[in-house]
Amino acid sequence: MALHISDDMLAEIRNAADIVEMISARVYLKKAGKDFVGLCPFHSEKTPSFTVSQGKQIFYCFGCGAGGNIFNFLMRYDGVSFPEAVQAVARHYGISLPEKNMSPEQKKQASEREHLLALNHRVMQFYKNILLKDSRGQGARQYLKQRGMDRQIIERFNLGYVPEGWDNLIRFLRKSRVSMEMAEKAGLIAPKKQKGYYDRFRNRIIFPIVDISGQVIAFGGRVMDDSKPKYLNSPETPVYHKGRTLYGIHEAREQCRSRGCVFIVEGYFDLLVMHQHGLKNTVATLGTALTRDHIRRLSRAAGSGDKKAYLVFDSDEAGINAAKRTIGAFLEESMEAAVVLLPEGHDPDSYLFEHGPEAFDRLAQGAPSLFEFLIENTIAAHGKSVEGKVRVMGEIAPVLAEISDPVARSLYTRHLTESLGVDESAVLEKVRETRDKPSARSKRPGESKLSEGKGPEKGPAAREPLQDRLEVQVVAMMIQNPESIAEVEERNILDYFEDPGLQALGKLVSRQLKQEQAGVSGMLNHVEDEQQRRLLASFMMEDACWGRESCALLLSQFVQCKQRRKNDLLEQIRAAEQSNDNELLTKLLSKKQKQAAGRR
Ligand code: CTP
Ligand code: MN
Repeated sequence: MALHISDDMLAEIRNAADIVEMISARVYLKKAGKDFVGLCPFHSEKTPSFTVSQGKQIFYCFGCGAGGNIFNFLMRYDGVSFPEAVQAVARHYGISLPEKNMSPEQKKQASEREHLLALNHRVMQFYKNILLKDSRGQGARQYLKQRGMDRQIIERFNLGYVPEGWDNLIRFLRKSRVSMEMAEKAGLIAPKKQKGYYDRFRNRIIFPIVDISGQVIAFGGRVMDDSKPKYLNSPETPVYHKGRTLYGIHEAREQCRSRGCVFIVEGYFDLLVMHQHGLKNTVATLGTALTRDHIRRLSRAAGSGDKKAYLVFDSDEAGINAAKRTIGAFLEESMEAAVVLLPEGHDPDSYLFEHGPEAFDRLAQGAPSLFEFLIENTIAAHGKSVEGKVRVMGEIAPVLAEISDPVARSLYTRHLTESLGVDESAVLEKVRETRDKPSARSKRPGESKLSEGKGPEKGPAAREPLQDRLEVQVVAMMIQNPESIAEVEERNILDYFEDPGLQALGKLVSRQLKQEQAGVSGMLNHVEDEQQRRLLASFMMEDACWGRESCALLLSQFVQCKQRRKNDLLEQIRAAEQSNDNELLTKLLSKKQKQAAGRR
């Protein structure tokens, strides 16, 4: 995000603000040594690893790696944009932020969200009125009745209807003086090929999609016959992101908290029918796969006690895939996960109407854990012959490898060995193999090279090639002892970096720390990339002592390693030439060219 609030203004606000005070208003902090610690609001934990440094004016969570300055905290915690965060801090400390400090673009952005939400709210009312009161809503009322929906549920979820026609909504928007651009941005209308717009939703039952705080962020619409597509949803908009949205979360949150558990179903009607049968701690993913972000949100909604998610599946297959992908995320959120598998041919909607909520409850009570479910199904698929067991191991080992908590990993491993009747050490070996393959781990969000590499003595980074670790250490050194920057620049160290992210970070650090004496926390305003910011915050939080000698030592190690690599490369080029492997040769030569370019 381009920064239009002047740097002086930002520095003034930062100097006036106290990160401990601002965060304390939102998270319970207590003093620990020279820092403050508390339970991290960004992941769920039982012992505090969320650390706030008053001296450095930054926060960093040693558990999940979230980190940054006061603005970064507010953006994430309050879910606001950078300018909004700056405004909030300014307001708190009585600093008036002249509007002219915001570019027109920024002003637009800051109010755009509000406009879109307000518009969605009016549109929800418009559709709802037609369903409940208009004669044109007769057929839709009939349809909902025939599907067994109570009036109460229809009203609580603000269902609506839009009749046949290309401009029902457009005419309403014109009358209400809403700009077509805004309505298009909200995903409500789409441009015609020639000129003008048409309604996205036509002749459909409308389901407003509401976020956790009750704001209408999008819509879904269902046809009432067999035409296609059966469901139509709003496109992604500035206020609607599919992978982060859970339908019904606003209505479900209180019950999720009080019962400590949540049912996750797939569809609109499934959700409505669950709520109608008193199972109000239910959310729906709306046909998309459950994401890590979903799980994090659910975990937060379920509060701080023990919590459990029931994934309600209508087929094994959907379930197995979800099981494989999400086991790790549930563990990280300390959330138990179990699978409610409905009998063939049923979804929650049809099951509840046929068998009632007590039968559903019984299914839930006997629900196997997500991991048990995965093992049982994989064994059922491959059998317990020798070949079958090998395949089962091949499929489950990567799942185990994804589990970062070693205790949980070993318990699950034991579970697998017992179910399969194989030797535990064989499974452990397989898991280790998988974990060591970088490709198996690099897929995990939040665990890219950048966030892992912290130093040779620490966990996963120890497996990374020496070069990467040295690059990480050089950047850490520059932050922790800015005096070293001069030498880094003199020897053009950054030009030799192979990780482009680290290189960019290194350049930023050297640029910023040379000119900005105001302190390191201001530097964070210039880092857009989440991974980079985490890494930066973690370096800032460390109190490493870099003497002149250790700096020099690190830099000469770096140069030597670089030299060795260059020699290796020359060696490989010679070999490729000899074996006439032209493809490889081209690759190596271009790599060589890159190195040379780096040196300039
Ligand atoms: N879905 C979608 N687009 C489609 C089909 C489905 O977005 N073309 C989503 C909807 O959120 C839907 C969910 O996936 O609720 C489940 O789809 P499906 O099982 O086909 O429908 P049901 O929910 O059973 O819908 P209904 O009972 O109304 O037939
Ligand atoms: Mn259905």
